[in-house]
Amino acid sequence: MGASANSLINRPILASIHTQAFQHNLNRVRELAPESKIWAVIKARAYGHCFEAALNSLASTDGFALLDTQDAVWLREHGWQGRILLLEGLFHENELDLAKELHCDLVVHCEAQIDWLERYADKGHKPINVFLKMNTGMNRLGLKPTAYRIAYHRLHSARYRIHHMTHFANADHIDQQPTVSGQLEVFNQTIEGLEGPTSLANSAAILWHRNALGDWVRPGIMLYGASPTGLYADIEHAHLNAVMQLHSEIIDIQELQAGDRIGYGGRYQATEVMRIGIIACGYADGYPRHAKDGTPVWVSNGNDGVVCPIVGRVSMDVLTVDLRHAPEAKIGSVVELWGDRVPVDQVAQMSDTIGYELLCAVAPRVPVKII
Ligand SMILES: Cc1ncc(COP(=O)(O)O)c(C=O)c1O
Repeated sequence: MGASANSLINRPILASIHTQAFQHNLNRVRELAPESKIWAVIKARAYGHCFEAALNSLASTDGFALLDTQDAVWLREHGWQGRILLLEGLFHENELDLAKELHCDLVVHCEAQIDWLERYADKGHKPINVFLKMNTGMNRLGLKPTAYRIAYHRLHSARYRIHHMTHFANADHIDQQPTVSGQLEVFNQTIEGLEGPTSLANSAAILWHRNALGDWVRPGIMLYGASPTGLYADIEHAHLNAVMQLHSEIIDIQELQAGDRIGYGGRYQATEVMRIGIIACGYADGYPRHAKDGTPVWVSNGNDGVVCPIVGRVSMDVLTVDLRHAPEAKIGSVVELWGDRVPVDQVAQMSDTIGYELLCAVAPRVPVKII
């Protein structure tokens, strides 16, 4: 996302990032996991919300978790003095000095990273906090349980401060393999007798598996007010607020006759006389091109507003909505593509994806305003 803009200038599209919603969602994590410390997960430019907004809003977190040393440099340069966790650890051995200088905690997920840390310890460097990641069934990053205890002892001998970590594959699905309870059992058995705090839970586990929180929780998507499952209904009563509001305006209106078609491919055909609002937002702004007819867009309509369906294919710079229920909408009327009135998850569902992807994909050309 690009530099912040102060108002709806030039092309009328704006992503506003609401700091109060951010703070509210962080407080919600504290309520749900009162015994745990929080790594606020802000990788991918804070899931597309920009680091600046995250840093300003989430300063009461216990630490920020992100992906690489460049992002850690940004946080330190902008005054963050608390803990930083590199969620995939180091990508190359030569980053160790920088990570140490930045006081980063490191995830360790493979033998190569252990080799690097052992060599580093041999040079007499002071130990670093590590989050030793166990692969308890997700089979992505992490050491197999059979290799975990050996890894632990190697790092322990090299005087690293070890935390035990795993990641759930299905905290958002009940009974799907591998289950949270299955992964938890493997984790607990493997670390039996080993010292060190634990870190287990992503947003879905924080919301739905309170027995699997651990000493450090790692919320991502819930901080942004979207659903871990991709379905808004699943968080409707979780008291989370949408942090990003993506707004634009109607820039033209077309009057169609029955039989007229709209946009590329003529996907939608009018069945009667209808007004179509042309909105300044397209896939080059990050709006999903796969949005189906019926995807909701909130349109201001006089003193009120109404949800109108998308009709026709989303193109690069515009999308088209059926204004039959918004008779007072006109050129210049504000629309909400997602936010408080239209949950991002509903747009995602109509586009066969999840809110995570849409939020992360907001394009650099969309101006951002932190409110
Ligand atoms: C290791 C790890 N922990 C926590 C999270 C946060 O997950 P969520 O956004 O589902 O809360 C992620 C995100 O993918 C992750 O990779």
